[in-house]
Amino acid sequence: MAKIACIGAGLVGRAWAVVFARAGFDVALHDRVADEVTARALPTIARMLEGLHATGMLAEDPATVAGRIRAAASIAEAVDGVAHMQESVREDVAIKREVFSEIAAHAPATARLCSSTSALRGSEFLTHIPAPERAMVAHPVNPPSHIPLVEICGSGLTSGEQIDAAKTFFEEAGMRPIVLNKEIDGFILNRLQYTLVAEALHLVGEGYCSASDIDRVMTDGLALRWASLGPFAVAHLNAAGGFRAFVEQLGPMMRRMGEDARTDYKWTDEMVEAIHAEISARIPVDSIPERQAWRDRRILKTRKLQED
Ligand SMILES: NC(=O)c1ccc[n+]([C@@H]2O[C@H](COP(=O)([O-])OP(=O)(O)OC[C@H]3O[C@@H](n4cnc5c(N)ncnc54)[C@H](O)[C@@H]3O)[C@@H](O)[C@H]2O)c1
Repeated sequence: MAKIACIGAGLVGRAWAVVFARAGFDVALHDRVADEVTARALPTIARMLEGLHATGMLAEDPATVAGRIRAAASIAEAVDGVAHMQESVREDVAIKREVFSEIAAHAPATARLCSSTSALRGSEFLTHIPAPERAMVAHPVNPPSHIPLVEICGSGLTSGEQIDAAKTFFEEAGMRPIVLNKEIDGFILNRLQYTLVAEALHLVGEGYCSASDIDRVMTDGLALRWASLGPFAVAHLNAAGGFRAFVEQLGPMMRRMGEDARTDYKWTDEMVEAIHAEISARIPVDSIPERQAWRDRRILKTRKLQED
């Protein structure tokens, strides 16, 4: 079975280790900042695997899967002989450039090199390495152990064959990749997400509703459809004649909302404080780890419903 390296053992790196070990690969996990970061990640990974097992999302014995993941003492050791490397270090272009130089110096020339970056363009940190045709962005949604989407995006120098091979690899590992045709800041998911958040800040900032109301509009409204259908398919089902008929009837309203949206809204520090206080009253900051575990259980339940 091919070997995989996960470089960076934070939130995303740990969850990737779960994805690859669950798919049967041997995984070497390394965090360049300190060995103890990797050491601390291993028990967390074991708990994640137990959680997946308890909700029926992992058929295998969690301890067997955890046994495929080992801590590596250096990048050189981690990437030795690997088929795939997944980088998940801090979102900083200089750090990623440096880390990719080190990875490329030690990984086999045939290894596929992927970055989990949320919003950096691969052309900023993947094109200086030897054989840049094997390097690309593979942006997950946190945590990838629970959420299957991966956004694959080449750097401009990535080869079509490597992109195709990455898509097949992620599919075989149980993920649901899409491939972007060209680079754009934030890829697709974060552009959609933060456009919505920007307008939500405008609505709260101008006093149309509270931050809690915005959260409820999503959980009690939009998300109930969006868990099964994307926004285009929702529109398609909302008119007897499909998407074209929907646009014929409601196109002017859609345009008006788009033109009115204040995605450039300048929120203030006071506003951030007020929203923080409002959400913290519902979800105290010291309960966040517990709420993260709750969120992850709910994500798994939602995925089960999606299988119907
Ligand atoms: N958290 C998310 O929601 C999310 C989602 C998708 C993608 N990402 C991306 O994944 C990557 C990792 O994010 P995360 O949420 O796991 O962050 P994190 O802070 O949990 O982990 C980042 C890791 O980088 C390491 N690090 C810090 N400085 C470093 C350096 N100079 N050299 C090497 N390693 C260093 C840290 O030790 C840490 O373990 C980022 O590029 C981020 O944009 C994050």
